Amino acid sequence: MKVPYFDVSRQHQKFAIEAQAALEKILKSGAYILGPALKDLEAEFAAYVGTRFAIGVGSGTDALTFSLKALDIKKGDEVIVPSFTFTSTALAVLHLGAIPVFADVDEKTFNLDPKSVEKALSKKTRALIPVHLFGQCADMTALMALAKQKKLKVVEDACQAHGALWNKVMAGAFGNAGCFSFYPTKNLGGIGDGGMVTTSDEKLLKRVTQYRNLGKGIEDPFVHDEIGWTSRLDSLQAAFLSIKLRFLDELNRERRAVAELYHQKLSATPLILPRETTQAYHVYHLYVVRVTDEKRDALKAHLAAEGIPTMVHYATPVDAQPVMKKQKIRKVKLPVTEILREEVLTLPLFPGMTEPEIAAVAGSIRKFYS
Ligand SMILES: Cc1ncc(COP(=O)(O)O)c(C=O)c1O
Repeated sequence: MKVPYFDVSRQHQKFAIEAQAALEKILKSGAYILGPALKDLEAEFAAYVGTRFAIGVGSGTDALTFSLKALDIKKGDEVIVPSFTFTSTALAVLHLGAIPVFADVDEKTFNLDPKSVEKALSKKTRALIPVHLFGQCADMTALMALAKQKKLKVVEDACQAHGALWNKVMAGAFGNAGCFSFYPTKNLGGIGDGGMVTTSDEKLLKRVTQYRNLGKGIEDPFVHDEIGWTSRLDSLQAAFLSIKLRFLDELNRERRAVAELYHQKLSATPLILPRETTQAYHVYHLYVVRVTDEKRDALKAHLAAEGIPTMVHYATPVDAQPVMKKQKIRKVKLPVTEILREEVLTLPLFPGMTEPEIAAVAGSIRKFYS
């Protein structure tokens, strides 16, 4: 049986007619940029996450860049980020001329290890970017306590974690700012690029609002008092996302149900399976297993031959990316990251994935090991 790696059309069936009508309305309205649809989504998203404000921007990367800039991160400042993440987390730091310092992750959760963060601190450290990787929150109790003690700013990279909780508080509501991506495959994916900053800080609201709109003054748009970008979440995306947001919890429950079935069907195999920690509510953006004994690539090839596509998130840790090698970056030991890059394998998981499809993936894995 062929199984798709990801099928976005199945989740959109739930609200396709409603979404088409909303898009049609925007087309007719002519309010394509910074219109009422964006204002509505910002209010809804802030209420959902539990922050005072939300600001729609062009991408998750821009959300991270603008948040760091709004917190005065500048040339020469050090920002601690995990190396085991999507490269974008660190690109945002480089865009400001600041220096990403890479810390290691916990091998069970794939998220920043507070002890490694402590080792990465220096006199130049100004901020910390916990990434809620694959849909599970980093240890925000320990990381927020550390940030408070060391007077560091915290920008959460929640690009993979819409709706994830840590001790019942939502991803994006802990730090000075929370950053989300609406890239189509994300838990709250749009129909193009998009992103959002969440914050309860009025100063950040004002600054990020200016950065996304060419640095134009809030009172007088003909006065540019900041070096800004053209990076506004457009009305078509906002209208679509407003509707999808109402289905986000249901879509996340579907992801969790797929993960639970995988867990049942794979627990007798030698794979190390992802599990949620007691404080977390995991929204399974990705279902990433660990394949030990140097068998990852063989298992991947076996599944591909049986019509089951998989991916590797992430074979190249960010510190090993060519763009990072060009920078002068202080090295911290990353033993867990080095193991994970060899072992991780992402199985197909998406809302609307059927039980026969899940059984086909699990059956093929069991066949590999038998
Ligand atoms: C962890 C993480 N950070 C940042 C980003 C960047 O988001 P975008 O692609 O919207 O710029 C992504 C996703 O693409 C991501 O997965």
